[in-house]
Amino acid sequence: MPAKIVVIANQKGGCGKTTIAMQVGGTLGRAGNRVLIVDADPQGTATRWAASAADESSFPAHVAGLAAAGGKVHREIKKYLDSYDYILVDCPPAVDSPVPQSALLIADVALVPIIPSPADLWAATGTRGLIERAGDINTALQARMVVNMLQSNTSMSKEVLEVLEDFGIPLTLAKLHLRTAYRQAAVFGGTVHDLGREAAKAVQEVEALAHEILSLFKNN
Ligand SMILES: Nc1ncnc2c1ncn2[C@@H]1O[C@H](COP(=O)(O)OP(=O)(O)O)[C@@H](O)[C@H]1O
Ligand SMILES: [Mg+2]
Repeated sequence: MPAKIVVIANQKGGCGKTTIAMQVGGTLGRAGNRVLIVDADPQGTATRWAASAADESSFPAHVAGLAAAGGKVHREIKKYLDSYDYILVDCPPAVDSPVPQSALLIADVALVPIIPSPADLWAATGTRGLIERAGDINTALQARMVVNMLQSNTSMSKEVLEVLEDFGIPLTLAKLHLRTAYRQAAVFGGTVHDLGREAAKAVQEVEALAHEILSLFKNN
């Protein structure tokens, strides 16, 4: 079976695209799947993340830097379809980049990380338009928003979550909270699983997110 493709996109920088690509990709890799993370961001954060791993082979997924392919990235990705079970595409934040549009044409699932704040919600409307247009051509595309950096005890989070319910893209049930474990994992070049018991809650929510994404592939 050709690889399932998950594109992680949001024009807003810093909302957690690379974090989700690496944590979910790493989680699927740890479970024995063949996983490729496509680093489509010229900043190369995913590439550097995996290169920070204790030894080069220790990150449980491969990372390929394809940012230079620009609007042709979908053609480059197709070359890897038979060699992997899952391909996760970490998109650049730039509004004018042709990469997300191109990758969404061949995606099975689009994930939009979103920090529950009014400014982030507003910025996500552009990404929603991009996904809607891609869905006109790629009719099998499924999209989900992933709440990231959630601080569930704040009233603003609650209000924004309510608004998000009506945003037009369903939310995943799994939500990632604001946790130092995510920053630490990036520094060590691993997934939160590598951090031991103090990261147990992060592991739990990342595993839940990975399972939820896998369940989307059973729909079609
Ligand atoms: N849930 C989280 N809790 C704490 N820090 C996070 C979380 N998600 C992301 N971060 C941190 O926020 C910063 C931006 O995240 P990143 O994944 O690089 O965003 P993007 O790829 O969308 O620009 C990074 O320093 C990352 O470690
Ligand atoms: Mg990034």
